[in-house]
Amino acid sequence: MSEDKGVTDNDVTIPAQGKGAAGQGVLNKEAAPGEVLLKVSGLQKHFPIRSGLLKRQTGSVKAVDGIDFDVRSGETLGVVGESGCGKSTMGRLITRLLEPTGGSVEFEGRDITHLGVRGMRPMRRDVQMIFQDPYSSLNPRHTVGGIISAPFKLQGVKPEGGIRKEVQRLLEVVGLNPEHYNRYPHEFSGGQRQRIGIARALALNPKLVVADEPVSALDVSIQAQVVNLLDDLQQELGLTYVIIAHDLSVIRHVSDRIAVMYLGKIVELADRKSLYSAPMHPYTTALMSAVPVPDPKRRGVKSERILLKGDVPSPISPPSGCRFHTRCWKATEVCKTQEPVLVELKPGQRVACHHPENAPDQAPGEAILPEARESIEVVTIGEGAEPSEPVAPVASEPAETEPAAATAESAAPAESAATAESAATAEAADGKGGASRGDAPEEPQESTDK
Ligand SMILES: Nc1ncnc2c1ncn2[C@@H]1O[C@H](COP(=O)(O)OP(=O)(O)O)[C@@H](O)[C@H]1O
Ligand code: SF4
Ligand SMILES: [Mg+2]
Repeated sequence: MSEDKGVTDNDVTIPAQGKGAAGQGVLNKEAAPGEVLLKVSGLQKHFPIRSGLLKRQTGSVKAVDGIDFDVRSGETLGVVGESGCGKSTMGRLITRLLEPTGGSVEFEGRDITHLGVRGMRPMRRDVQMIFQDPYSSLNPRHTVGGIISAPFKLQGVKPEGGIRKEVQRLLEVVGLNPEHYNRYPHEFSGGQRQRIGIARALALNPKLVVADEPVSALDVSIQAQVVNLLDDLQQELGLTYVIIAHDLSVIRHVSDRIAVMYLGKIVELADRKSLYSAPMHPYTTALMSAVPVPDPKRRGVKSERILLKGDVPSPISPPSGCRFHTRCWKATEVCKTQEPVLVELKPGQRVACHHPENAPDQAPGEAILPEARESIEVVTIGEGAEPSEPVAPVASEPAETEPAAATAESAAPAESAATAESAATAEAADGKGGASRGDAPEEPQESTDK
């Protein structure tokens, strides 16, 4: 896949495929594993809220509010958090489908934060996105061949042997029948459609693939197949992934490192092993404690589950100090007034908390607030029985197999069928990114995928 396809550029001035915008040589295989591929600093996205006849800005939705992280070549960074925490917005910011309000995004050492349409064009080959909903992200009026060949046409790339041959090869790579070139999306199942979306994302041999909930709209029985496909493709093609999911078991399976997001912030960032063996942020602890343990040996072992009460607060006016203090059972006065900084408390494990778990207290001597004790419910599970409902409140994302989830997501402002498709091929995305600046809806959309 990443071998030189002998492509030629005809109508645009872009580096030959296999060259990054920074000119660092063959994309996938030459990017030294472990080197920083993407660097995000202080990244923000505030969607303006406008009201009145004059559409004056009266506030903003702080969807992403100052996040810092790196993505290293060849790794998978998992991003997890409840619905409305800003995961999708973050994904669209780093793929530059949205214009950031503040902070910076560097790709291969190049600042791409405010690149315009022309400047982003070569970048579009290197950074691709896979969307949650394979129903709305594929244009129903286009054939599979048309959909997967769109990136070649938009970028003016002619693969050796022709586009059709290359598209058929891609279909095979993702486990679909190359003979289905002329079929339409509705003729495929959800899992197959997601494979089409993956083939389209891979068409231009990208370095970084950002997958936003790539399996959560799929039937549970199909999810593992798609996750395994992503895994295999990464091995084979040396891809770097940012995989966004609310499902911690998916995140655990795919990630090398994990960023936990809460209300527009990263609250914990650690390698998978550290995070799962000794989570430090109370929010991470709560998320993980809600996940049933799949280990049959542990069945029958009594365990306590922490269930957070209530929903994520509004990102229009997030809580003061630590944003999690309204739901945290460890909250003290300092948590209400001082925002904790994301600091490395163990090698490879960063956390933003005054009173972390599994680490020394950062603000000792503080008394837990009386209301903090009411913010959770602890449920004891035992005798091999998995709880039938208590898991839901923490991972409060849409039911995974219900079409309603897909429909809700498709109604998201930035992901209509047509835009998602062209965004993935990443041309029209420029227009969308530009339009997003100051072009937010009058009223903030409450989390669209609830
Ligand atoms: N275009 C938009 N205009 C206004 N608010 C938005 C827009 N897109 C997302 N939001 C809001 O930003 C917050 C974060 O949304 P999102 O990034 O979709 O979270 P997640 O993917 O974690 O569920 C939510 O409160 C959502 O309603
Ligand atoms: S202990 Fe304080 S700082 Fe830590 S998560 Fe809870 S409220 Fe936030
Ligand atoms: Mg989302």
